[in-house]
Amino acid sequence: MIDVADNLTATLAWRALRPPLPAAQRDALTQEILALKRELNAVLLAHNYQVPEIQDLADYVGDSLGLSQQAAQTPADVIVFCGVHFMAETAKILNPQKVVLLPDADAGCSLEESCPADQLAALQATNPNFWTIAYINCSAAVKALSDVICTSGNAEKIVRAAPPDRDLLFVPDENLGEWVRERTGRPMTLWRGNCYAHVEFRRDNVLKLRERFPNARVVVHPESLREVRDLADVVCSTERMISYCRTSPDRQFIVVTESGILHRMQKECPDKEFLCAPVYDVMRMPSDACRCSECKYMKMNTLEKLRDCMRRRAPQIELPPAILERARLPIERMLEISARP
Ligand code: 13P
Ligand code: SF4
Repeated sequence: MIDVADNLTATLAWRALRPPLPAAQRDALTQEILALKRELNAVLLAHNYQVPEIQDLADYVGDSLGLSQQAAQTPADVIVFCGVHFMAETAKILNPQKVVLLPDADAGCSLEESCPADQLAALQATNPNFWTIAYINCSAAVKALSDVICTSGNAEKIVRAAPPDRDLLFVPDENLGEWVRERTGRPMTLWRGNCYAHVEFRRDNVLKLRERFPNARVVVHPESLREVRDLADVVCSTERMISYCRTSPDRQFIVVTESGILHRMQKECPDKEFLCAPVYDVMRMPSDACRCSECKYMKMNTLEKLRDCMRRRAPQIELPPAILERARLPIERMLEISARP
């Protein structure tokens, strides 16, 4: 049995379970991907939760907001999106003429699944005064039904910019929605969806870790439950989590989000220590089990699948023209509000 707060041991166990690719194989794949990138005039965008090998190869690694800003301005002909399906769809909506590739077409999201477009349309029909704010973690069809999109990096700004005379409907993440509602004081109807990976974090486990490391700052993603957000020194998007740790004078951080983010944190702050928040009751686990939170969808992309999708020009994101057209406006509205001072 691992000691409750022996988090570094758990992190090492996690690495042992997911050993890095042998160097020769990684180098060969890297060379092939770089050659395909030149041949296709492609840009490689990766989310902060992607496996380290992909992050190290990407042209840009960031949060959902940064990735959509990059997608909106890239001169590349092909966008290779190392993230999940809704992210690649967003890139396609912003670039209908370009080829957008996703290494694994099954890389979905529990938030996207929680909000089918027909159910959203039925709820919207109950109140013509609804102003629908959709978290970017939703399908293109849901985006097409929305007035504006937000990410965890700009949700507060987007809600503050909403027309004061409209009734706000926030979909699909109830935890992010609740957090923004608390911060802005703006009443909102919340869709009852959540991120299956973030709701696994529980107050007791984070508290036990903080007791063992009292000088550590607690950095929490807003998709987490309120009982965990209440323990945070800062609640913010993945990109802000990284910049907070980089600029903070503190040296130790308890990181409450998907564990893929630790790669960039350790790379950018080699002299600081990052502790993965445990997601289970650690006293009841076998000692070789992983206690970090991983999103099974984000981890579907691998270096091999990345190479294969560039070789085959597939899987490609395709969307009906009407959805492409209608989903574009709320995304552009988000980008415009985000760029305001
Ligand atoms: P951000 O990187 O935008 O904070 O989003 C986190 C997330 O869960 C993406 O699926
Ligand atoms: Fe969706 Fe959660 Fe995975 Fe992000 S971490 S892609 S919100 S399931």
